Amino acid sequence: MKKGSILTLDIEKFADRGKSLTRLDGYVIFVPGAVPGDRVKARVFRKRKKFAEAALLEVIEPSPLRTEAKCSYFGTCGGCKWQHVTYEAQLDAKTQSVKESFEHAGGRSDVTVHPALGADDTFYYRNKMEFSFSAGRWLTPAEIKSGEDFNTSFALGLHVPGNFAKVLDLHECHLQSEWSASFVNAMRAYSLERDWKAWHPRKHTGFLRHLVIRQATHTEEVMVNLVTSHYDEEQMQELAAWIQETAPGVTTFINTINSGVAQTAFGEEMHVVFGPGVIHDRIGDHTFEIASNAFFQTNTRQAETLYRVAAEYANFTPDDLVYDLYCGAGTISLYVAPNVKHVVGVELVEEAVQNARRNAEANGISNVTFETGDMMKLFNDDFIAKHGKPDVLIVDPPRAGLHPKVVRQIGELAPERFVYVSCNPQSQAKDLSYLTDQFEVVQVQPVDLFPHTHHIESVAQLKLRT
Ligand SMILES: C[S@@+](CC[C@H](N)C(=O)[O-])C[C@H]1O[C@@H](n2cnc3c(N)ncnc32)[C@H](O)[C@@H]1O
Repeated sequence: MKKGSILTLDIEKFADRGKSLTRLDGYVIFVPGAVPGDRVKARVFRKRKKFAEAALLEVIEPSPLRTEAKCSYFGTCGGCKWQHVTYEAQLDAKTQSVKESFEHAGGRSDVTVHPALGADDTFYYRNKMEFSFSAGRWLTPAEIKSGEDFNTSFALGLHVPGNFAKVLDLHECHLQSEWSASFVNAMRAYSLERDWKAWHPRKHTGFLRHLVIRQATHTEEVMVNLVTSHYDEEQMQELAAWIQETAPGVTTFINTINSGVAQTAFGEEMHVVFGPGVIHDRIGDHTFEIASNAFFQTNTRQAETLYRVAAEYANFTPDDLVYDLYCGAGTISLYVAPNVKHVVGVELVEEAVQNARRNAEANGISNVTFETGDMMKLFNDDFIAKHGKPDVLIVDPPRAGLHPKVVRQIGELAPERFVYVSCNPQSQAKDLSYLTDQFEVVQVQPVDLFPHTHHIESVAQLKLRT
């Protein structure tokens, strides 16, 4: 087999990052876009010592796990890689990936991993979408084939995978709501009519950078956050009047200024053009205030499932002292607070901690304490002396997992009950492999917050060994 070889392959299984793989005499070949059970024709485009990658040319015999993709951008857009796979098969693949994380990254084949809990809504489930403007538009194969003339100097949509400069000009998207997609289209037309320029990611010129839409699931509140390279009051007032007239459902409009080169929707300045500058949504019995830059789980309904599983695994008693580490805007802390004596939350981002404190007050919850700081520095013996030894420890770190110092401190702290919530089962399994002497992994429950992507949340219940 050489680079450029065209092969007929029977696809065996899903692999990391939503790709699929097969083996020829033990040699692994990844075929992105193929589905286990497919017989495909594919061209090898990368060859390494241990594996090759091949581009899918033709599906000779389709797998029974295939289904019709809903979106016309499927295959080019990076948003939903698995729309062509039945939801049951997606869930099986996610369960399997959590099991394999514990086997490979965690060195454990005896861990009980339950089948992933699926979402009732597999489309229109996101409460937040971050669309990008770009002066470089990426055309889909169908757009190229149409022979039409396209204005490629303006796009509003999502990035094509692996290309920071190019954006697909999305006229449909089924992740947030139909209203959200129609607002994107209206905003594009508005900008083009006025010749407002999209940001050029290489030349660092242009005005429009990102359009972030947050739409609450359990209230009628909607936030539009337009990220621009500079502030222009007249233009923003004109846009505000247009939004209020054409999209009266928008309850708050924010203009964030990011003049730097980094492609991020965060910025150095924030102008609340109208409305309160925040929206509110509910998880369980509590209402949460959400600022434009605060972390809030993007699938509200499945976040409830995630927190319910975490609470079940914690087996709370009314006398429990709980640590909620990496607490964001305090959502888990406030969710569990009514069932325990006290919760101590720790979070790096000051605004999120302010949100958490305000959320506690607004929900009439007083048995919580929030501390701002970097877990690596804050989580030491003084912290434990100040707050007391917890009966239950809950952690929900970012994708990279726990810092080794935090892992060591957890080992020394040895809480009786420990629940590890993670958006990356590989780092979760690896972190827990260092704590095998102290804790038994009782069970693991994957929860799907991101249908049609390979991402999965995983909740592990741990018990202190006696
Ligand atoms: C996956 S989020 C979880 C938030 C929260 N548990 C929830 O469900 O909304 C991880 C959080 O960890 C915070 N974080 C990241 N690194 C941190 C660090 N070194 N120390 C403390 N918090 C950190 C992030 O700001 C983020 O809010």
